[in-house]
Amino acid sequence: MASSVKKPWGGRFQEETDRLVEEFTESVSFDQRLALYDIKQDLAHLEALKRAGVINKEEAESIAQGLTAIETEIREGRFVFRPELEDVHMNIEAALREKIGPLAGKLHTGRSRNDQVATDFRLYLMEEIREVLRLLHHLRRALVDKAGEGLQIILPGFTHLQHAQPVLWAHHLLAYYEMFRRDAARFQGTLERTAECPLGSAALAGTPYPLDRELTARLLGFARPSRNSMDAVSDRDFVLEFLFDAALTMMHLSRLAEEVVLWMSPEFGFVDLPDALCTGSSIMPQKKNPDLAELLRGKCGRVYGNLLTLLTVMKGLPLTYNRDLQEDKEPAFDTADTLKVSLRVAIRMVQGLSPRVERMRAAAEEGHPTATDLADYLVMKGLPFRQAHELTGRLVAFAEERGLKLWEIPLEDLRRFSDLIEEDVYAWLSVEGSVARRRTYGGTAPERVREAVIQAQRELQEELEELERSL
Ligand code: ARG
Repeated sequence: MASSVKKPWGGRFQEETDRLVEEFTESVSFDQRLALYDIKQDLAHLEALKRAGVINKEEAESIAQGLTAIETEIREGRFVFRPELEDVHMNIEAALREKIGPLAGKLHTGRSRNDQVATDFRLYLMEEIREVLRLLHHLRRALVDKAGEGLQIILPGFTHLQHAQPVLWAHHLLAYYEMFRRDAARFQGTLERTAECPLGSAALAGTPYPLDRELTARLLGFARPSRNSMDAVSDRDFVLEFLFDAALTMMHLSRLAEEVVLWMSPEFGFVDLPDALCTGSSIMPQKKNPDLAELLRGKCGRVYGNLLTLLTVMKGLPLTYNRDLQEDKEPAFDTADTLKVSLRVAIRMVQGLSPRVERMRAAAEEGHPTATDLADYLVMKGLPFRQAHELTGRLVAFAEERGLKLWEIPLEDLRRFSDLIEEDVYAWLSVEGSVARRRTYGGTAPERVREAVIQAQRELQEELEELERSL
């Protein structure tokens, strides 16, 4: 079966394209998402062609009018994308020809779909990254707000998912603040490298027309034109960076989500979420499930997959453009969509977390969490740490046998293990005392955490001003 549509590249062809080939090679079913960037680029390229004297003023006006009309159709959802026309670029070119006739053909002077698609895709990703940065900002804000509200709350800190040492709930939340702060910095770096404009690279070698690439880069909101035409049309490292940044952010989200799943279980019972953010079971009427958190965890899979997809597509490709590169778009679209919705969900989830303070506090007493403090106490009294560790271990076993907490062991029993132990030991054994003593920079002592909250608030305020400026 053959198709009857005349292709913009059809000059040297005698036969019509096989239907199967059309179906296999078309990309407009997904790259139509780039349509508005394509128009924006057309208008910038038109300006460069006009200034280069390739197109006169009247011609430029009529091309611009045609493009604006197409833009309106796209915005209003009236534009019909046709798979026989392969991709978004040729769809728009064909529509322009229908509107203004053969003059439309002048717009493709000094440009190839190779620099065109790279330019569109960079514009698209720059906008997505900006949105991701805004969402990461709001997620961090939600974490800091939650931390600021709960500066007194203590819960067990875990290693190996075993009770380790008591920590502040705010300190735990701010650990995620730090992860998302670094994620934002990574996206920012990716944004800077993505902001190089390929337009003017043409097919691969540049173009004989004197196009002002500084001008088009500026008109489109890029920081600068790309430096090498062959690189510009053929590398997709900026997409890969985005996919990696997103995978890492999803990994962080999945860890937060997993904690919420654990904390919501009756065994922990550390937090509750509003009904509006949970779902029920169709058979077990009592269930209130943290599906939101589970899906956040689960969505990681496709985002990792998208990174690996494109890494594999790119491997071993010779310079310059190869059609394989068309496979760059769907993974990126899927990742951007998944990441944005995941961040929105995570923001709501964090905002909705209500800590069950009593449960956390009670759990913080389980498992002899201040044993390290006892060892530290003995060190302070002059015992080498290794001996203190061993002696404390024996005291833990003693407490276990009798079903006591360390601070419930009477002084005379404690002194049978070491006469270095005196009445002041009990201040060291309390959960509050343990937290308060961890005063090193970055530690969980309340005054350190309060400083960390203030610093985070200050950072967010400065960032907000920047975000507003960049809007
Ligand atoms: N749809 C193509 C892509 O996404 C556009 C570039 C096609 N270029 C070409 N020389 N066939 O990569």
